[in-house]
Amino acid sequence: MDDSRETFGPKAFVTGFPIKHSRSPLIHGYWLKTLGLPGSYRAHEVAPDVFADFIDSLKDGSSGFVGGNVTIPHKELAFRLADRPDQLSQELGASNTLWLEEGVLHATNTDGRGFTANLDERHPGWDRHETAVVFGAGGASRAIIQAVRDRGFKEIHVVNRTVERARELADRFGPRVHAHPAGALAEVMNGAGLFINTTSLGMDGEAAPQLDFTALAANAVVTDIVYIPLKTPILAQAEEQGFSIVDGLGMLLHQAVPGFEKWFGKRPVVDAALRGLIVADMESH
Ligand code: ATR
Repeated sequence: MDDSRETFGPKAFVTGFPIKHSRSPLIHGYWLKTLGLPGSYRAHEVAPDVFADFIDSLKDGSSGFVGGNVTIPHKELAFRLADRPDQLSQELGASNTLWLEEGVLHATNTDGRGFTANLDERHPGWDRHETAVVFGAGGASRAIIQAVRDRGFKEIHVVNRTVERARELADRFGPRVHAHPAGALAEVMNGAGLFINTTSLGMDGEAAPQLDFTALAANAVVTDIVYIPLKTPILAQAEEQGFSIVDGLGMLLHQAVPGFEKWFGKRPVVDAALRGLIVADMESH
């Protein structure tokens, strides 16, 4: 990127601990460049014990940032320290996107919108179904359960090895969300139209269980939030069994859209060139 554009425009960050593996600078850098906008977006590592100080420096303007993204392990604290967390992040208890408006620090969570926008792009009509199965009940599953519920799914079955974690989520997200132990997976898949893997199973060469998807509705969609590899073992099995699959990379790309628009003033587009850029980066590491 040319220096003058970086020097003069709004400055945004992604913070986490650690943060050096984040691909967000690549995504936002691509949009700044292709839209020809002044501004910068960079990784800014902040340790947990000084995160509150960092938020103070954002609020008083001394950091020079207009806002940014927040990732593990700071999402809960970002939510708590923001002046104006929106409703989505209030229900989740976590925020991943911050921006200043007249000295007031606003916060939202864009993970759920990233999830639905990815499916809207790659498999329109995915939301015609009434029943979804969410496999996993960790941090990543929350925004997805919320988004699927808010899209109108009537039954959302959360299945987890540790059933207590699934129960917590059923309590949090209301009567349409049901908790089950791992042994119930086959039963709840019966007739479901959407299957989402939110566990880390199959990530980056790790083993994944053999799953039988054949009880899903005939036109069901199977998706995974893991995107390394792009076609995870769970997606490969679903495809072999004749189901449509959607990989998780688009969720990462689409969740970045609302923040970029807040900080830099233009709504960016997730296109094939951006996807190609991130895939090439993944392949080179
Ligand atoms: P994240 O915040 O990224 O979702 P997490 O909170 O550690 O990460 O959650 C990981 C998810 O993968 C959890 O649902 C976890 O199940 P538990 O709650 O029972 O730990 C699931 N998971 C990880 N390894 C698993 C395994 N070997 N078998 C079944 N589930 C597994």
